[in-house]
Amino acid sequence: MSKGVGEYQVQRDTGQDYILWTENIVKRFGGIIALNKVNIKLRKGRITLLIGPNGSGKTTLVNVISGFLVPEEGRVVYKGRDITRLPPHDRVKMGLVRTFQIPKPFQNLTVLENVMAAAEGNPGENPYIAPVYKGKWRRFEEEQTERALEILKWVGLIHKWDSKASDLSGGQLKLLEIARAIMKGADTIIMDEPAAGVNPVLVHDLFSRIIQLSRERSVTFLIIEHRIGLVGKYVDYAYAMNMGEVISEGEPEKVFNDPNVLESYLGG
Ligand SMILES: Nc1ncnc2c1ncn2[C@@H]1O[C@H](COP(=O)(O)OP(=O)(O)OP(=O)(O)O)[C@@H](O)[C@H]1O
Ligand SMILES: [Mg+2]
Repeated sequence: MSKGVGEYQVQRDTGQDYILWTENIVKRFGGIIALNKVNIKLRKGRITLLIGPNGSGKTTLVNVISGFLVPEEGRVVYKGRDITRLPPHDRVKMGLVRTFQIPKPFQNLTVLENVMAAAEGNPGENPYIAPVYKGKWRRFEEEQTERALEILKWVGLIHKWDSKASDLSGGQLKLLEIARAIMKGADTIIMDEPAAGVNPVLVHDLFSRIIQLSRERSVTFLIIEHRIGLVGKYVDYAYAMNMGEVISEGEPEKVFNDPNVLESYLGG
């Protein structure tokens, strides 16, 4: 079941296929330079990992990319558009979703109901419109159910469709988060430490699904993760940060073994 990156065909870097990139991002907090001219690029349908010791700027960068912080300098480009000043919810509408932007699952609803609840614009929710558009609403609901079931297949939770969210393991809850993000229209998903608190075997299940979604559904991932020993083999490209700067980038193995990166962890 567990597939590493190597088992999928590597796509040649043509320079054309980046869905998101940052250009010289500078972010200060008072006297602290949290980000100092940071450039990262996300390949469409690929998994990019962001590592670095505590305080190196990872979360700040992700906040800039998802719109929770506006940088003092630089730009964020997504799908060819400058989104540097676009509010987070407008980025979500464009397909750029950080998993915590999806509300926590409802414990007493089933997995399927939770995925359905992530979709927007259900006319059945409006008591005045619902009777008038009953036929339309029913068709809409059927389509949404089909889509939700399809997405549950993609993330490998279809066998759990009728289970309560409260019955899921930590790793399955992460998959449910991803399913809900996709239901909301996400094609670019940002996750901050998805493996934290998930047992190692389930981390492999989780990342096998993530790599499958990237290859088969062209979902792009940006993942912050400390447990590089566990997730390294599933990612396509890695950036290492230290003190607000990118200090190494490239093939994950190369980055993990870069003496500067190793030293940055020891120094932290
Ligand atoms: N809201 C804030 N106000 C002031 N300083 C901040 C703020 N957010 C982050 N910083 C500072 O910016 C720097 C980068 O922090 P950031 O949280 O981005 O690091 P990180 O790489 O995510 O660390 P961790 O691995 O601990 O999550 C740190 O020096 C931090 O103290
Ligand atoms: Mg952080």
